[in-house]
Amino acid sequence: MFGRAPGATKSMRYAHIIGWGKYAPAKVLTNADISKMVDTTDEWIRDHTGISRRHVVAEHETCASISAAAAQHALDEAGIGAHQIDLIIVASTTPDNTFPSTACGVQDILGAGQAAAFDLTAACSGFIYALSMATDSIRMGTHTRALVIGAEMLTRIVDWKDRNTCVLFGDGAGAVVLQASDQPGGVLASIMHADGAGGEFLYLDKKSQFVKMNGREVYRFATRVMDKATRDVLQKVGWRPAQVDLVVPHQANLRIIDSAAKGLGIPRERFFTNIHEYGNTSAASIPIALCDAIAAGRLKTNQKAVFVGFGGGLTWGAVAVQWNARKEVPRAERAVNRAGGLLSGLRNRVRKAANRSAGKVFGTTDPTLVDRVSKTAEKVKPVAKNSE
Ligand code: ACO
Repeated sequence: MFGRAPGATKSMRYAHIIGWGKYAPAKVLTNADISKMVDTTDEWIRDHTGISRRHVVAEHETCASISAAAAQHALDEAGIGAHQIDLIIVASTTPDNTFPSTACGVQDILGAGQAAAFDLTAACSGFIYALSMATDSIRMGTHTRALVIGAEMLTRIVDWKDRNTCVLFGDGAGAVVLQASDQPGGVLASIMHADGAGGEFLYLDKKSQFVKMNGREVYRFATRVMDKATRDVLQKVGWRPAQVDLVVPHQANLRIIDSAAKGLGIPRERFFTNIHEYGNTSAASIPIALCDAIAAGRLKTNQKAVFVGFGGGLTWGAVAVQWNARKEVPRAERAVNRAGGLLSGLRNRVRKAANRSAGKVFGTTDPTLVDRVSKTAEKVKPVAKNSE
């Protein structure tokens, strides 16, 4: 049912989330670990933020590699190959380079040869901004299948001597696959806002290259805009707060989420949280939380969901999603799609190895992903020629 029906007009296109994936680095730093580095305690961190642990990238990992790992999971979930993607947006405050973009790195690692690729910077609101832009592009008919990724390596830009900030952040990546459909639903409405006058409250200091934050001001701003952004997107889509089945909020502080739930009159249990496990992963927090919510059985067909975020800039935004991520790709087709994707990834790798350029620009990718791609591609070679 997904894909454009014959005769369908552009105005009938919708953008459905058909795949999702996350990547959390293996290394974990607990509050107890941090309390050995700065003057803090597990109790203080949990009471003031809700955070217990956070994941930290390994030295060999790059923003492109963790993005690609999350994206590959999302493609597997969707049952499509990277060669079928025509747009990649990576939202990140910690890209590998000013240019080329991290999104180009993802395109290269996955072998998504048909995809346009670019990065987007809106701090912790980045995923909401990217999802909104990709949705508009699909609904306009410019693109058909998009990878929208939020990925961060914030532990590389926090001052590990500053207890005000270093306890808050973690690393990780989350991705969704958006696909055009003539079936009503998917991402139905979005709102995005910015207030550059508040830039000084949260920024990357040029001199030290560390995150600087006025926690109290950000807290005040966050509680205000989480409520307002949710109300505004609900009004746009025509839903009442009581109709919302699930809110996936940016995971910055449990107290901010509690306050938003209270203000909106939406039962707190409808707000999904996993901040205890990951800390604040900025642009990655909403897609990682979405993956965990789905795994926990918190989203069912036709339910109404809101994703809402805020961050540096200052920026904030929300999207309203009618959840109908049906798996209608037949098994055989999924296998062929996957084979095509894996082969294009492998082709890229071989080409790069021949050029001896692997790792030069985008760093090395997650070794397990590369291994998996190569092994599976070998197995599926015979069907790959007809994979388009
Ligand atoms: N351990 C122990 N004490 C601490 C710590 C710590 N890790 N950090 C701060 N304190 C102390 C302060 O020094 C202060 O001490 P003082 O009273 O002697 O001066 C005291 O705790 C209280 O400080 P507050 O700032 O009032 O603490 P608060 O309860 O507001 O919590 C926090 C601070 C967690 C940072 C909160 O303000 C917050 O969550 N703000 C929002 C931050 C946020 O969401 N940032 C991400 C935005 S998204 C993005 O774009 C990256």
